[in-house]
Amino acid sequence: MGVRITGWGTAVPDRIVTNDELSLTLDTSDQWITERTGIRERRIGGSAMTLGTLAGERALADAGLSTSDIDFLVLATTTPDRIAPATAPMIANAMGLTCPAMDVNAACAGFMYALRTAQGLLETGNKKILVIGAEHLSRWVDWTDRNMAVLLADGAGAAVLEYDPDGTDLLSFSLGADGSAADLLTCEHGGFFEMDGKEVFRRAVRVVVSSAEEALKEAGITADDLALVIPHQANLRIIQAATQRLGIEMSRAVVVLDRYGNTSSASIPLAFADARDNGRVKAGDYALLTGFGAGMTWASAVVKWSR
Ligand code: ACO
Repeated sequence: MGVRITGWGTAVPDRIVTNDELSLTLDTSDQWITERTGIRERRIGGSAMTLGTLAGERALADAGLSTSDIDFLVLATTTPDRIAPATAPMIANAMGLTCPAMDVNAACAGFMYALRTAQGLLETGNKKILVIGAEHLSRWVDWTDRNMAVLLADGAGAAVLEYDPDGTDLLSFSLGADGSAADLLTCEHGGFFEMDGKEVFRRAVRVVVSSAEEALKEAGITADDLALVIPHQANLRIIQAATQRLGIEMSRAVVVLDRYGNTSSASIPLAFADARDNGRVKAGDYALLTGFGAGMTWASAVVKWSR
């Protein structure tokens, strides 16, 4: 039994914050941020609910479905608008959905965890599921802390997954979590994001490579077969290091962090949408989706686009 990905949608705030603008208030520079991260600008504003709702509506329209068609909403978010209620029911209400709705928090691997959750929900009788990744990270950034302020941003992306008895787009998954590394990247209640950037960097490359290798093996293909790599958008140097170790040239990697920064669980659908808008997604192509984040959590999947 299979899963088809039939629609995509994204939403980002209108407000663009450039590296130069951050340099006005922080001891940093466009040169440092660009060279060390690849980020040139980011979008700031909205909320997990408003951005998630817009992305969800666009994904539904892209799939040609109406709200009554959706059996379940799974929202990946690290930054729910409130601790309770979850943000997913609020998005469902704003969209006019009447189905079950829940949040999943796996930080920057969240969209991948939500896809895997949706796949399981389709295996147990649901027919159409809306998966959204939506983040309002800027709310939890100390704007006097240059370590985090240059990295994190806001945005949302969504996908519609449909049951198909005759074939599947999702060929394999490899997910993991290591709570012994929890303190490397945290945001306490009422606090701000803090990170041991160097150690997160090192571990990120390791887990992306190992989970990608597992997902490729389970899908029965090699890195050479991949048309695209759609990685979590945290740092260009992480993407370069991981693709190099996997033997994949950078021309096959999708990079949008230069325009959007790190949007956590929204970054993979934002990257996918960009690839599709630029004609880089073709039926029959294999793609590797891979993410990692606080937890630490990580997840890779091999997808074969059918449309
Ligand atoms: N502007 C200017 N200088 C800076 C800045 C800044 N914004 N930040 C740090 N520096 C300085 C440091 O103080 C240091 O100075 P020193 O040499 O005098 O001590 C120097 O630049 C180098 O700092 P490093 O921390 O060694 O810089 P590094 O090259 O490691 O880059 C970064 C830091 C960008 C954070 C990198 O380590 C990284 O990307 N790590 C992974 C981040 C990540 O992937 N997070 C994951 C998910 S986020 C989530 O889950 C929500």
